[in-house]
Amino acid sequence: MSAETKPPAGADLLAEIDRLRKERNAVILAHYYQKPEIQDLADFVGDSLELSRKAAATDAEVIAFCGVKFMADTAKILSPEKIVVLPDLDAGCSLEDSCPPEKFKAFREAHPDHIALTYINCSTEVKALSDIIVTSSSAESILAQIPPEQKIIFGPDRHLGGYLSRKFDREMLLWPGVCIVHEAFSETELMKLKAQHPGAPVAAHPECPPAIIDHADYVGSTSGILSFAKTFPGDTLIVATEPHIIHQMQKELPNKTFIGAPGADGNCNCNICPYMALNTLEKLYLALRDLQPRIEIEEGLRLAAKKSLDAMLTMASGTVGKGDLGARS
Ligand code: 13P
Ligand code: SF4
Repeated sequence: MSAETKPPAGADLLAEIDRLRKERNAVILAHYYQKPEIQDLADFVGDSLELSRKAAATDAEVIAFCGVKFMADTAKILSPEKIVVLPDLDAGCSLEDSCPPEKFKAFREAHPDHIALTYINCSTEVKALSDIIVTSSSAESILAQIPPEQKIIFGPDRHLGGYLSRKFDREMLLWPGVCIVHEAFSETELMKLKAQHPGAPVAAHPECPPAIIDHADYVGSTSGILSFAKTFPGDTLIVATEPHIIHQMQKELPNKTFIGAPGADGNCNCNICPYMALNTLEKLYLALRDLQPRIEIEEGLRLAAKKSLDAMLTMASGTVGKGDLGARS
């Protein structure tokens, strides 16, 4: 970082971010996987569906999106008149990377009688090639509205697709993408952890592989897992998703114990999303100061992608506890 791209030496970043947020008429949106210091200063912390809804509804002039690029892209697709900044443009997603638009297009063309139900963790181009977008908190209620005889391609997360397919007893053509973070949980280490905490339930995100889901007492989105944390009867919960969500749990439920599910080395650090972790307070300060890096999307592409997102927003029946995946059947 050169001198002019750095905050002034000794700057109080929290105070500066606060000043810039007001000056710019900006709203700071953060995903539950962001670092605690970012979650704590955000105007709103939520899951990907809630953040999309906030981005579509805000009357702020600037959206500072503390999440990954497909989330900031979604905010720009839904609110094109706003300036949308992402603190680090390299904050991508392994699911998005697994699904190049030209390959997805060819796959669609090879299956003309299928509709494309697509997880929001994908590029704007793939959204434009899709019929309906889903998030993990809206997937089940949306899938339930699609007639049983309709053939479906589900991408890019084969674990979420497989989970839905098993739960609904419905065949779908699955794109072979995975989230590198959820893929890294170890069944063996999870079994050891469960043995150390007898009776502690496991809450898992549906991006986890089936070997982890099979041990879960609750499967749902980040918001769904947070709701479960508030309502489960015990005092210790094992959490199989990106561990930064535990910050919200500990804040809201200081008397309960939350333990991150382990990776293969028995240490949950390998389950920190490396993309989400690229955003820092310093980069957020610079993004608000310079209104860069800014998300720009060509208008024709934006309108094409908006159709599948609008379909999601219309069909999603609610957020936590309504459209969520809910308890494992
Ligand atoms: P949700 O916030 O919709 O549960 O999704 C999690 C995720 O993968 C974010 O990358
Ligand atoms: Fe993508 Fe996984 Fe990171 Fe979510 S946690 S942004 S799905 S890599």
